[in-house]
Amino acid sequence: MSAHPDHLYPVFDRMLPRASKEEMLGQAGAVIWMYGLSGSGKSTLAHRLERELHAAGHLVKVLDGDNVRTGLNRNLGFSDEDRLENIRRVAEVAKLFAECGVVVIASFITPNNTLRGLAREVIGDDDLLEVYVKASYETCAARDPKGLYAKVKAGEVKQFTGKDSSFEEPDRPDLIIDTEAHDEEACLAILLEAAQGKILLPR
Ligand code: ADX
Repeated sequence: MSAHPDHLYPVFDRMLPRASKEEMLGQAGAVIWMYGLSGSGKSTLAHRLERELHAAGHLVKVLDGDNVRTGLNRNLGFSDEDRLENIRRVAEVAKLFAECGVVVIASFITPNNTLRGLAREVIGDDDLLEVYVKASYETCAARDPKGLYAKVKAGEVKQFTGKDSSFEEPDRPDLIIDTEAHDEEACLAILLEAAQGKILLPR
């Protein structure tokens, strides 16, 4: 059996329509893709958003780098090539959830516009809310929630984003959340409003 797509026969005709699932859940499937430096606040906001949406009756799944890299993507490191494969797989998984009517909150550094474009290409414009969680390298290093920046300074971590691996400013985010300018509650409020708009039925 060939693995070439030309020889695969997906059974689209037997699939239950996505709209039936969305109706059952009372929400539109969507992917809220949050990116930014390590320590910018992505995961904190992602998990707080999940709780807010859950409390409002939504079915939500958080995907984040630290977790996914212990399972599905445990064979991947931080080279440019591995980061691309990391984002490609996660975007495909997020798409599967969204097609099932689930709201996905993806939290990945996604360090450049090629990777952000890849995620957009896989997920599609309609289902994607692209959120740049913005904080400078200096601020993230001062916060250092995982002690990683200290290790980078000591030369113990290589290919670190913002240091010896580049982070490119985004060219087309749907939303920018500046976690230096606003406190956590204010950031969450902005994010929650945008997310609620994206998952509202009918879209
Ligand atoms: S991405 O670049 O491929 O999008 P991802 O979000 O999955 O990265 O993983 C980033 C997380 O891995 C960081 O939050 C941090 O905890 C950890 N990490 C370990 N090594 C590195 C590194 N060299 N660069 C960036 N993050 C690292």
